[in-house]
Amino acid sequence: MSGQTIIVVGAGAAALSLAAAMPPSYQVIVITKKSANDSNSTLAQGGIATSILAEDTSYSHIEDTLYAGCGHNHFDIVKGAITDGKRLVQELIKHHFPFDVDNDGNLELGKEGAHSINRILHAGGDATGRMLIQYLLKQLGEHVILKEYETAADLWVENGRCTGVWTKDSAGKTHLRKADHVVIAAGGCGHLFQINTNNRSVTSDGLSLAYRAGAELTDLEFVQFHPTLLISDGVSYGLVSEAVRGEGAVLINQNGQPVMEGVHPLKDLAPRDIVARVLHQKQTEGARLFLDIRNISNFESRFPTISSLCEKAGIPIEEGQIPVSPGMHFLMGGVSVNKWGETTVPNLYVIGESACTGFHGANRLASNSLLECLVFGRRAAERIQSKKNLPVVNKKLHNPEEVVFAVPESTLEDIQKKMTKFVSIVRTAPELLKMKNWLEQLPVQIINVKEITNEQLELSHVWQTAKLMTQSALLRTESRGGHYRSDFPVKEDAIWKGKQIIHSVDGIKIRKNEGIGDHAIVQA
Ligand code: SIN
Repeated sequence: MSGQTIIVVGAGAAALSLAAAMPPSYQVIVITKKSANDSNSTLAQGGIATSILAEDTSYSHIEDTLYAGCGHNHFDIVKGAITDGKRLVQELIKHHFPFDVDNDGNLELGKEGAHSINRILHAGGDATGRMLIQYLLKQLGEHVILKEYETAADLWVENGRCTGVWTKDSAGKTHLRKADHVVIAAGGCGHLFQINTNNRSVTSDGLSLAYRAGAELTDLEFVQFHPTLLISDGVSYGLVSEAVRGEGAVLINQNGQPVMEGVHPLKDLAPRDIVARVLHQKQTEGARLFLDIRNISNFESRFPTISSLCEKAGIPIEEGQIPVSPGMHFLMGGVSVNKWGETTVPNLYVIGESACTGFHGANRLASNSLLECLVFGRRAAERIQSKKNLPVVNKKLHNPEEVVFAVPESTLEDIQKKMTKFVSIVRTAPELLKMKNWLEQLPVQIINVKEITNEQLELSHVWQTAKLMTQSALLRTESRGGHYRSDFPVKEDAIWKGKQIIHSVDGIKIRKNEGIGDHAIVQA
């Protein structure tokens, strides 16, 4: 009997895959600020990438991941995640996870940007994330307590180690929940930007909690803008999966001309950063953009989620054109962790999109993120079990009035609008500087954890993360993957290869990471 308590912040695929892997000798408390269905994982449409076909290999999947990642992936992490991920997907298949199959019972495999072969397993057509969350929730034993509508406000660090989480329940009451290990799996930071694909609850909380606790954050300049959000009359209705282009849809302008023709050999299935930039450029020139889906005969059965988004937006699918525009989708950077999800703060783990493992490099390969959640959720669970029982947690009372937040005198909408204007798909020094100065000069109110509202907490987190992201984007004087500077439009390998911009409460530093960069690829 370990008798240890693990607190998990977040309830997406990484959180639940860890919780499902912890044996009953541990008490696992999963805290999520909305319902268990409110996560980016639930919204994941594309699927899970792994090599299945006889003519496919993990080696090829690794190569595609490195190509998409633009020379900024950590090679050993990529290799390990792809090989371990394949084993975990095979486990899901063995346990009858309902991946879609054809009439002969063979797995249906989709294709997405920068994949050299069909290797995306999907479920419910385009509802893979939702089905994975439902599946994982069913795996949780009685030793896992799910606390919905409870917000993690701050981490508690004692004697240099993370020993708990300050939370606020749905009635606004403050608690200090003590734990032997704390795991953050709270998603990325989609709501730093006006137009995004993320669940409304994803406001960079995980990044901000870890930063405040003393952990290092890195690669925050690498932001993935998904090329195709369904946008009608300026309103975003959500993601139109890249899998739609994998089934043959083509990006066109208002005159029906294909916009990716002649731009990249993979055309509509070029890496996301490239497609998003082309669409952004076309829009700047006044074009309106659509996905031409006329050659997908089974659109509604293959993409039921997207079909219902179209219905909500009043877009008739039978007309064969879905209006699209790029928007913030995924953060490649995050809290620096090792292959086990361990941060620089003892007993604090970070997994999923909140973490930066080096797997995604400067631009994530499509459908590698649910894979990452499975791998790093399982690994963190194993690591925690390998740790010896720790000394009994100090029971002294702590004063919540000393736990304080700087809340800017602004609004979430205002920060989002400015981030979208100045720190978006195309960046320049004068605009980044303007943003940095504006963020830094905002007056702040200091509010303690008992008094602060959930809205003020989100505003504080978003403001903090926006400042760090803007500083990183200003510092990286090159273009690579999801970070494009029109004043430094090429990869500057001589200066930046393998370098990471690291933030901690002690300040910013640039550090060379020996694991990042070109490595001899050996057959996996
Ligand atoms: C998509 O379905 O296009 C998104 C999948 C992903 O982000 O991996």
